[in-house]
Amino acid sequence: MKNDTYLPVRVIPRDWVEPLDLASVFGMDAGGLEVDVGSGKGRFLLARARARPGTPFLGIDRLLSRVRQIERKAEREKLGNVRVLYADAGYAIRHLLPAGSVSVFYVLFNDPWPKRRHVDRRMVNEEFADAMCRALRAGGLIHIATDDAGYFSAISRQMSGDKRFESAPVFEPSEAERTDYELQWMREKRSISRCSFRKREA
Ligand SMILES: C[S@@+](CC[C@H](N)C(=O)[O-])C[C@H]1O[C@@H](n2cnc3c(N)ncnc32)[C@H](O)[C@@H]1O
Repeated sequence: MKNDTYLPVRVIPRDWVEPLDLASVFGMDAGGLEVDVGSGKGRFLLARARARPGTPFLGIDRLLSRVRQIERKAEREKLGNVRVLYADAGYAIRHLLPAGSVSVFYVLFNDPWPKRRHVDRRMVNEEFADAMCRALRAGGLIHIATDDAGYFSAISRQMSGDKRFESAPVFEPSEAERTDYELQWMREKRSISRCSFRKREA
């Protein structure tokens, strides 16, 4: 869908403690929302949105320069189904996404914080799983990829032990959808681990 109505790509919530009105944000039925958590420079988000113009996509990142990069690219291409939010992802998922509104979360190459003393800074933890679970519709998916073996084990252990989720077929991006970090790790011949989970029906 082309953004002919010129709705802003960057979402600036009017109220930071109330869930967003997604239909107004997208100017379309926002059922089936897919969210790229830590969207970086947006290579994945934009490629996926181009390939599936009928699906609404939201990127969330806490680095303004990256959010602006996505904003510029989406505006240049008049991509009507992409929005980007400058916010902490944990906060946004917990407070700004309506309960049951998300079909798919992508958590791709989230900062792994490999040093033992920094492990508490990792995004994927029990609290984050609670937030994603609330925002996901029943049957909704979480796709995770990382180049860090320690982070991957911790995520797999935590998510597999969470009875609200079951494992799901692993998401493999197309060549066009590889993220900027993924391309870098591929050039460096690092191995990449992926896992996917589905929110069980209640
Ligand atoms: C390692 S980069 C990966 C970017 C992109 N997914 C990729 O694979 O190219 C991690 C991104 O997540 C963002 N980020 C890290 N923690 C975040 C948080 N708590 N909330 C929102 N964005 C976050 C960073 O600003 C950065 O853009």
